[in-house]
Amino acid sequence: MQSDGKSGTQSAFAAQSMLDPSHPFALQRVARGIRTGLHVAIIMDGNGRWAARRGLPRVAGHRAGVSAVRRVVERPPQLGITRLTLYAFSSDNWKRPPFEVRSVLALIAAYLRWEQAALRDAGARVQAIGRRDRLPRMLLREIEQCEAATAAGQHLHLRVAVDYSSREAIARAALHAVHGLNGSSTPETVDRALAGHLQAEGGDVDLLIRTGGEKRLSDFLLWESAYAELVFTDRMWPDFDGDDLEAAVAEFKRRERRFGAVPGVDTSPRPGAGYRVPGPATATGKELFPVLGQDRG
Ligand code: FPP
Repeated sequence: MQSDGKSGTQSAFAAQSMLDPSHPFALQRVARGIRTGLHVAIIMDGNGRWAARRGLPRVAGHRAGVSAVRRVVERPPQLGITRLTLYAFSSDNWKRPPFEVRSVLALIAAYLRWEQAALRDAGARVQAIGRRDRLPRMLLREIEQCEAATAAGQHLHLRVAVDYSSREAIARAALHAVHGLNGSSTPETVDRALAGHLQAEGGDVDLLIRTGGEKRLSDFLLWESAYAELVFTDRMWPDFDGDDLEAAVAEFKRRERRFGAVPGVDTSPRPGAGYRVPGPATATGKELFPVLGQDRG
C-alpha cells in the first residue's frame, strides 16, 4: 500500500488543514453543497494489462491501481466534483481466480484502513455500495469503520462500489417500490419510487469515465447514468491521474447536455400553443401531434 511513497496520513490533500480557507475542500464548502457539484463515476479498467505489459502478475496491476485511486481522489474539489463513485469490484468479478479476488478485496480493505484518517480530515464521506452479505468479514469491518469515521464528511461523497451490480440494485429498488404499489400506481409513480431508492445517495451521474480502452458500461450505474456524458480513454487505470481526470472534466464541459430537449426553446407544455406533451393515445393521433396532416411544404 505504500508503494507510491505516501502513507495515508501523508496524502497531499490531508496535509493542509480544513480550517485553512485555501484548502480545496474548504473552498468547496463555500461554493456548493455536496449534491450540487458534479457526480463523476469511474470504471477503473486496465490493471491486468498494465501489469502484463510489464511482465508482472495481475495483482501488481491492482496494487498500482490503488495508487491511482489515491491520486485521483485528491483532485475532485478543484474540479467541482462533489460525488465520486469508483467501480472497485463488480458482482461478476467473483468469476476471477480466487487469488485475484482475495487480493482485490484485501487491497480495498487496506485502502479504507490506511486512507481513513486522511479522507476524514479532508471532509470526505466514504460509502460502499453493492451487496454486503458475500463480503469477507475483514472487508466488511473496514467498510463499516471507514463509513462511521467519515460519516460527517460534507465536501466529497466518495462511493466505492464493491460486489456491485446495477441490475441487481435496480431489481432491489423495484422490490421496495412494489411494496408501495396500489391500484392507482402509474409508471410515473413507480419511476419516482425507484428514484427514491436509487437516487437517495448518489444521484444522477454527470460524467462516466472508463479507462483501459474498452467501451462498455459493464453493469455500472445503468439507471443513474441515463444522461451521463461518457468519456472513454485508452489510458490504463494505474497510469490515470488527476490531470487525466481534469481532461475528462474539460471534455465534459465542452459537451452540450440537452437531456432530450432542443436548446433555447421553451420546453414547458403550453396547451393551445401548437403542441403539448403526449398524453394517452387518441383516436386519430393527429390530436397528439398537430404537425401530422399539415402541409409542411
Ligand atoms: C479492472 O481491471 C479492475 C478491477 C477489477 C479492480 C479495480 C480495483 C482497484 C483499482 C484497486 C482497489 C480499489 C479501491 C477503490 C481502493 P482488470 O483487472 O479487468 O484489467 P484488464 O482488463 O487489463 O484485465
